[in-house]
Amino acid sequence: MMIKDTYPVAAGDMTVAGDVSARIKRQMKRLGIPSDIMRRVSVCTYEAEINLVIHSMGGEIEFEITAEDIIVRSRDVGPGIPDISKAMTEGWSTASNEVRNMGFGAGMGLPNMKRNADEFSIESTVGVGTNIVMTFHI
Ligand SMILES: Nc1ncnc2c1ncn2[C@@H]1O[C@H](COP(=O)(O)OP(=O)(O)O)[C@@H](O)[C@H]1O
Ligand SMILES: [Mg+2]
Repeated sequence: MMIKDTYPVAAGDMTVAGDVSARIKRQMKRLGIPSDIMRRVSVCTYEAEINLVIHSMGGEIEFEITAEDIIVRSRDVGPGIPDISKAMTEGWSTASNEVRNMGFGAGMGLPNMKRNADEFSIESTVGVGTNIVMTFHI
């Protein structure tokens, strides 16, 4: 069973934020992925998707299944992250008041992604964009 799907994520539109992670979750259910892995992948894809919507200028989420792993990649075009260790700190957020009033921007997304993935890597270039790779051992 080898799968590699790519889902575009548009910037700014909170009304569809979460749709991509919901689709990926349905796909995992269909495939019978164990529920603990499914739960962790879902947390990570949701947080990555929300970050694309609220912090980037748009990007994509790639969902891959190999014989050993599920791999989720998030890539975007956007402002990038000047200080990754700050961004990885629980509660640290640059989200606008508008975004916070909608219930987002608690500053827990990146720390939760790192905690829930078996492997987590993030690379970001200011003025260019951000790439995240998360691996889950099946
Ligand atoms: N894709 C991204 N592009 C630019 N900045 C980002 C991106 N993802 C995260 N960040 C930065 O890292 C901070 C922390 O992210 P996160 O932990 O998800 O918290 P939150 O999204 O609630 O602010 C964000 O406030 C933002 O400054
Ligand atoms: Mg976030």
